[in-house]
Amino acid sequence: IPIGGADMPVVVALLNSYSGLAAAATGFVLNNTALIVSGALVGASGLILTNIMCEAMNRSLFNVLIGGFGGDSGGGPSGATSTEGLTVNSTTSDDVAILLSYANKVIFVPGYGMAVAQAQHAVRELAEELAKKDVEVKFAVHPVAGRMPGHMNVLLAEANVPYDQLFEMDEINGEFETTDVAVVIGANDVVNPAARHDKSSPIYGMPILNVDHAATSIVLKRSMRPGYAGIDNELFYNSNNQMLFGDAKDSISAVTNE
Ligand code: TAP
Repeated sequence: IPIGGADMPVVVALLNSYSGLAAAATGFVLNNTALIVSGALVGASGLILTNIMCEAMNRSLFNVLIGGFGGDSGGGPSGATSTEGLTVNSTTSDDVAILLSYANKVIFVPGYGMAVAQAQHAVRELAEELAKKDVEVKFAVHPVAGRMPGHMNVLLAEANVPYDQLFEMDEINGEFETTDVAVVIGANDVVNPAARHDKSSPIYGMPILNVDHAATSIVLKRSMRPGYAGIDNELFYNSNNQMLFGDAKDSISAVTNE
């Protein structure tokens, strides 16, 4: 069965839960209470995790299992939303540094690109510099940002980002309206506003982080290539959005130096 690369964790979670159910069934045969209880716990937690991931992508388990979605292709932008003729604003690290240092509130939105660039330590350094300037800094973590459950949480924890700065999507989504700058670090699908209104988009209905509600958004990525879902992102063409092209780690370090 063709399963998309990033869909594999969902399938692994499902298979994992089957191992728990099999253990529970064995427990009944052997009349072993410990096996029944532990098998039921593994089985239930696997199913719950599978369900959380499917809901976060607004896709059915069947859709995940039959594949045919995304695929990490490096082709040009595509997708239902026509962005032909629209232009993007490109910015530089010194402009971003000025914008951030005059902001009252900044939200970082990490995605798969932060993991690829291994930029998490550089991001923590930038967050610390901003905190020294009394800028309020928060991190918004989408449940399926990256390629594994908890991918971003693990990376940010590894870089010693304080837990009280990490916020889940539902907790922080209302705060973008009062945010001066949202900095999107290698995230793409999880901030695509097409998910809210474009019924022909493959990600239609997926809950997203409302980065487009911030006064200004900055997107750090290397090119205009799409993310996992393989579709163009209309956020990039908003008048209050600026693209900082380059490897996320290099870009963040350059901003911190400035
Ligand atoms: P994506 O939409 O996949 O976008 C990642 C972006 O990172 C790309 O557009 C890429 O653009 C950029 N990037 C790659 N390398 C970079 C680098 N070195 N420096 C800077 N940018 C870089 O990521 P997302 O927003 O995190 O969304 C996750 C996707 O995976 C969703 O579609 C989700 O449904 C899917 N998925 C996730 C999971 C779990 S459990 N997390 C499970 C199944 C599916 P450039 O190439 O232009 O740099």
